Amino acid sequence: MSDSSELILKSINSALKSKKLYPPGHPAIAAPVNKTFQLISDELKALNNIAIGILHETLTFEDTLIQDGDKLYPDVLQYMADKNVDAIIFERGATVKELTAVFDILAGQPVQGKELQRELHTKGVTHITLKSVPMGKRNVLEIYNGAVEVVKNVMGEVRMGKIPRSEPIKTIVDEITETVFSDQNAILGLTMIKNYDNYLYNHSVNVSIMALALGRAMGLPKDDLHAVGVAALLHDVGKTGVAENIIRKPGGLSSEEWEKIKEHPLLGSNIAKRMNGLDETIGRLIYEHHIKYDHSGYPQTTSSLHPLSQLITISDAYDALTTLRVYQQPHSPVEAIKVMNNFSGRHFNPDTLKAFINMIGVYPVGTMVRLTTNEVGIVTKLNAEKQESPVVKILYDAEGVIVENPFELDLSTTDKEIVSTVNPATTSTDLGSFFEKEAAQAV
Ligand SMILES: [Fe+2]
Repeated sequence: MSDSSELILKSINSALKSKKLYPPGHPAIAAPVNKTFQLISDELKALNNIAIGILHETLTFEDTLIQDGDKLYPDVLQYMADKNVDAIIFERGATVKELTAVFDILAGQPVQGKELQRELHTKGVTHITLKSVPMGKRNVLEIYNGAVEVVKNVMGEVRMGKIPRSEPIKTIVDEITETVFSDQNAILGLTMIKNYDNYLYNHSVNVSIMALALGRAMGLPKDDLHAVGVAALLHDVGKTGVAENIIRKPGGLSSEEWEKIKEHPLLGSNIAKRMNGLDETIGRLIYEHHIKYDHSGYPQTTSSLHPLSQLITISDAYDALTTLRVYQQPHSPVEAIKVMNNFSGRHFNPDTLKAFINMIGVYPVGTMVRLTTNEVGIVTKLNAEKQESPVVKILYDAEGVIVENPFELDLSTTDKEIVSTVNPATTSTDLGSFFEKEAAQAV
């Protein structure tokens, strides 16, 4: 172990220890914090970040196991374990204020997981990460909301001129991928959450979920799937470089404004390329997401498309069509598919589109339907074998009265059939909150 790592650990240990011994504000607390700050700042002159971790109950410094760490730095280990933190990562740019806040949190109230992250966020800590040991698996809603949070942070950092770290993005994409394999209906249902005000964030997450589900259906290898998921999550990150009033403008854009919008694929791909540890395919997929199959989109290019970029283009179009926008009423899933089919072979690769439509189903999860009995419900699961007979959660009875305890009906096992789709806007049901509730109940 190098001298500097020894000094840093020693100083962190005494900072934490002093927290235990002295009341808040006591000068004996500030001294070791300031010293730690000095040591870490010096070390960060040569490194991008410093990581102190726990691996198999042993302390590590920059991936090196620390011999006798439990005896030499017991407070570091104890406070990390108490908060369920398995790594502290200091990044260049960390301030003494951030460091003080982190020590306060580590030595403070017993918080873990999301609470811990919230505290870091409230205290304005952005250059020091406390990585939590996963506390069991998160449910799909937590994963969905976590993904929205990741996109929000990434775009926020880009707006401030920073290059975001790729780790949180990769981790959340892994989580989404896992859910796409274990509980695809539930996570696809959540793509019905269309947040009008935070359109860009929810849209990015929805596109990532759908592109991953499509990739899964197409049997993509793991690395390709990961690249698609990350690129889909970041596909519009370049919009941070386009003025907000242009992005949100209702109605027609001037040709100059339109030119600005058309820059976002290139801007986004440049951001992805500058991020550490992202596969270079990701930048390319972002660059290509509006080019379209027949190259009628933008940016104009004659070079051939990466075979995976269509997964993002198609998922992007579907989510955009099914969302309420300033210039558009949302299309129902069935209508959206019809519209997209009209562009098969033009905007969309016919094979990829076919795979998408097959994956999303004749009546996709989230479609409101009326049955032969006049009951109305929402499609919650698909039956792969009998696509026209999915599982429907009945919300309104034959008389149109709200059912007190909604129940699921597997149409493949009854003689009830779907007669038509229903526009949810004509009912009192909000699809987003319906699926949020579904996901919360599924825990
Ligand atoms: Fe875009």
